[in-house]
Amino acid sequence: MERTYKITAKELRSMWLRFFESKNHAIIKNSSVVPQDDPTVLFTTAGMQPLVPYLLGEKHPQGTRLANVQTCIRTGDIDDIGDKTHCTGFEMLGSWSLGDYFKKEAIAFSFEFLTSPQWLNIPLENLAFTVFEGNADAPRDEVAATAWRSHGVKDDQLFYLPKKENWWGLETGGPCGPCSEMFIVKKPRCSAKCTPACDCGAYVEIWNDVFMEYNKTPNGLVPLEKPNIDTGMGLERALIAINGLNSVYEIDTFQNALHSLSDAVAIANEEMFRTSPEQTQLFQMRFIKQSRIILDHIRASCLIMGDMVKTVPSNSGRGYVLRRLIRRALVQARALKISPDVLLVLAGKFIEEYQDSHPHIKENRGFILIELEKEFSKFSKTLEQGVREFEKLISKKKQISGVDAFRLFDTFGFPIEITKEMARERGIEVDEQGFNVAFEEHRKKSQTANAGVNAGGMAGNDPKITNLHTATHLLLAALNKVLGKGIEQRGSNITAERLRFDFSFDRKLEKEELDKIEKLVNEQIKKGLKISFKEMTVKEAKAKGAIGIFGDKYGEIVKVYSMGDFSMELCGGPHAQNTKDLGTFKIQKEEASSSGVRRIKATLE
Ligand code: ALA
Repeated sequence: MERTYKITAKELRSMWLRFFESKNHAIIKNSSVVPQDDPTVLFTTAGMQPLVPYLLGEKHPQGTRLANVQTCIRTGDIDDIGDKTHCTGFEMLGSWSLGDYFKKEAIAFSFEFLTSPQWLNIPLENLAFTVFEGNADAPRDEVAATAWRSHGVKDDQLFYLPKKENWWGLETGGPCGPCSEMFIVKKPRCSAKCTPACDCGAYVEIWNDVFMEYNKTPNGLVPLEKPNIDTGMGLERALIAINGLNSVYEIDTFQNALHSLSDAVAIANEEMFRTSPEQTQLFQMRFIKQSRIILDHIRASCLIMGDMVKTVPSNSGRGYVLRRLIRRALVQARALKISPDVLLVLAGKFIEEYQDSHPHIKENRGFILIELEKEFSKFSKTLEQGVREFEKLISKKKQISGVDAFRLFDTFGFPIEITKEMARERGIEVDEQGFNVAFEEHRKKSQTANAGVNAGGMAGNDPKITNLHTATHLLLAALNKVLGKGIEQRGSNITAERLRFDFSFDRKLEKEELDKIEKLVNEQIKKGLKISFKEMTVKEAKAKGAIGIFGDKYGEIVKVYSMGDFSMELCGGPHAQNTKDLGTFKIQKEEASSSGVRRIKATLE
């Protein structure tokens, strides 16, 4: 039976933009899900992220009132996927005032959009509102409370909550401040103490107005010269709330894929459904979560790859996040007895679903399907063996050690989440910390091994090799400066004669670009930049803007090499002491390495 919706994703996106346009906001473009100016995070996690410089005072070319729909990726809560509301990929409907209007007007806009018959038309009695209760940083937000009351909001609809609930900023710092959230009341409160912060399900969040008055710096909160408004309505959550749905998988954008998946599962398990009621019951109990993981992960993979920056599955950084999503979907598909081809069908459905709102998804259709297929086939080869190995391990022990978990990863390609999930189903522990240690040791060893191989039998500290290695850092920094930020290392191989450097980029470089890159590297060599390194945590390295292949452990200590202000990159070393020792850098060749990856061979003369 076809569902009917009060409002669909397409209608809500368009209504949002029309509303803010009618309030003189310029509509700005959806930025890449790969942050372009912020190396501190792998993905764009909030609609305001691409606007950070403007929220800190820089002038925006489109004015002081802005709105958009931004695709975001959040992978922090991957273990929550499968519940009713968490999505790896989501769209944030955003609006901003850059030093233009403030609280009173922002609240008036929110109130009008939510309640006016011309817009969402939600009865006021079905809404609830929260404001900041105040602390040492900022006072109790009576201004916001008074503004809500002026629109007829009653005291029993208005809640003062602490910083944990009513303060918003990115984890990495930057613009932040108290916020006011709006909720739809779904059912009676669970007790007299119940507030919108309670997880009983009485209140469903729909919108957040952030009053950005501060910049969070390592030295504490610094007041902004001009306060800003940053508002965000999570499209999927809002659709759940407005349509009175029970889960995100009920919203319209999931329906075609959900039907295809259910049909495929019914066909693949037809015999069991017919012959074994007990097994069928067990199967159905697990089906909901498994199918949700598949839908979420395939959709998120399509959103990641359907972007202006083409991420491919790999073993590091955002490529590894993508790999984990795809492989985890495949493991669940196996449990549901459906083939990887079904997952490709689902991807096709999502691509179709998003082709009007996300032009890059349409453009990248072939790329997405080919990359998914490649990853499926890579992992399918070892999946069965890996599962057998896993069974063998747990038949002997009640815990999977870090070394065993690492072997499942290294030999069979099982990301740690998959091992953890399979173990959890059996009530078995996995030593995740041990896995991380083994992972890190392996990473270090393979770096050393690479250095050894690169040395062609010579020790890793051969000056010729060291100099070429230093030149790769200058090259990567130059690539990022000439071709735009976000270029990442995909591979490096050095012999005494030349460097070979693979990086993410999806077209042939122009002659002028190569000339510029070469010139820029040689300028740095001539400048005689001192090369130094510091040890710091990944967190600090990211905050400082270092580039390179980050592991997953936030607290892990890494070495960060700097060459003047030009390059700051994570690396094990060794390096030359000064760029003046390098000689003249010469690009010998630029060619394709694999899809979305280019290769440069260069020498020092
Ligand atoms: N940036 C705010 C949020 O993501 C609006 O909730």
